[in-house]
Amino acid sequence: MAVQSIILAAGQGKRMFSDLPKVLHRVGPCSLLEHAWRAAAAVSEVKPIVVIGHGAEQVRKALAHLPGEWVLQEQQLGTGHAVQQAMPGVDPQGIALILYGDVPLLRPETLRELTAIAANGRFALLTVELNDPAGYGRIVRDAGGRVTRIVEEKDASPEEKRIREINTGIMAVGAESLNGWLAQLDNRNAQGEYYLTDVIELAVRDGLAVQTVSAPDELDVAGVNDRAQLARLERAYQARIAADLMARGVTLRDPARLDVRGEVELLGRDVEVDVGVIFEGKVRLGQRVTIGAHSIIRDADIGDDVEILSHCVIENAAVGAGSRIGPFARLRPETQLAEGVHIGNFVEIKKSEVGPGSKINHLSYVGDSTVGSGVNVGAGTITCNYDGVNKHRTVIEDGAFIGSNTQLVAPVTVGKNATIGAGSTVTKDAPPDTLTLSRARQVSVDNWRRPSKLEKK
Ligand code: UD1
Ligand code: CA
Repeated sequence: MAVQSIILAAGQGKRMFSDLPKVLHRVGPCSLLEHAWRAAAAVSEVKPIVVIGHGAEQVRKALAHLPGEWVLQEQQLGTGHAVQQAMPGVDPQGIALILYGDVPLLRPETLRELTAIAANGRFALLTVELNDPAGYGRIVRDAGGRVTRIVEEKDASPEEKRIREINTGIMAVGAESLNGWLAQLDNRNAQGEYYLTDVIELAVRDGLAVQTVSAPDELDVAGVNDRAQLARLERAYQARIAADLMARGVTLRDPARLDVRGEVELLGRDVEVDVGVIFEGKVRLGQRVTIGAHSIIRDADIGDDVEILSHCVIENAAVGAGSRIGPFARLRPETQLAEGVHIGNFVEIKKSEVGPGSKINHLSYVGDSTVGSGVNVGAGTITCNYDGVNKHRTVIEDGAFIGSNTQLVAPVTVGKNATIGAGSTVTKDAPPDTLTLSRARQVSVDNWRRPSKLEKK
């Protein structure tokens, strides 16, 4: 049976105190709503229907990259009303799976359990026991333990308020029956809303068994209403990712001080990551890579045995096996380092290829360059690649030695095994196997005396 997910995301999220619609706030790599969307996509091929309202245009734009049907709920008249808006797009022969756009950590396994129950002709309801159930709808059961209805906090008697099993809001049931019950909802309750939860009582009245699934972890079903809850779910998400990396052979010096906002692909084992590291986008790590404290690595391909020392920022770059980067190095987009390259402190590399075994160890800027193998770039070397309008390339051929404090004014080529004297400004190509230097000759002035202070009378 086809499973049609309906993601409720029209609510405002007042307690976020934000100009951004609540469901667009992020956990890990993506928005809350995208997390819900991914969970839905993991259990069904059918495009999810997303019910939007507050900030509808903004939400739609932000998630334009996700296949889905968007349904507008102009006024937020309650969760039941929200689902009603989606039903015209749902195949009556299929199963409706209801999700919330502000619940990001649901596991696909849990959703599969629910849809299997619904496929068996029952009403599947995801619940959880909380020590403090305040604010949630309570699951009311009869003496035989059968669910009879859900009562919202604001409508509950003092006795019902003591029930600790609560409604997560996530449920699955046959779409045709759901349609029938939705049509019978009214808003005669404490909040004057059309409650989706009232369909439970109607289902029971029709003789349908309600089967609950207990969420494996309270955090799986936790929603976000304020920034503190957002932060809590961020940590919970990160803890899951960290646990997964450790299970695959990564040493994390402190799993609580790692942030993954994308995907980390491991090509081998024994990667070691120090504290405060952030991975973003798609990062591939070879075997035995070590990453020093407080480095940020985004969309990068890091080869085997690479050593990244502390405080490096690497973005859209490839680092060849056995290279050593940092501390305090910055690799900017379109940088490609071959094997055994050394990039040291306060060095910035942009849109350049650096050949095997080359070293750029101190205080340099290398941009729009092709650097051969076995090149040594001295401290304080700068490629002057930009004339204010155009960018030009610098080519440094194999085995060249660039003396400290050299400016290479591009376009320029330094030939194979050439040596550039320290302090040179190189504006013309330097021939291979030759010493090139361009600096004023040093002079010493014999009769010169330092100025002295005038004596006061
Ligand atoms: C709802 C449940 C409650 C449950 C709780 C779990 C009802 C009546 N109550 O309460 O039993 O314990 O969730 O968090 O269902 N939404 C819309 N349109 C609306 C109203 C809500 O799209 O008109 C969306 C919200 O954006 C949100 C979700 O539905 O994603 C839940 O709405 P919310 O107002 O948080 O429901 P609660 O009152 O917390
Ligand atoms: Ca809520």
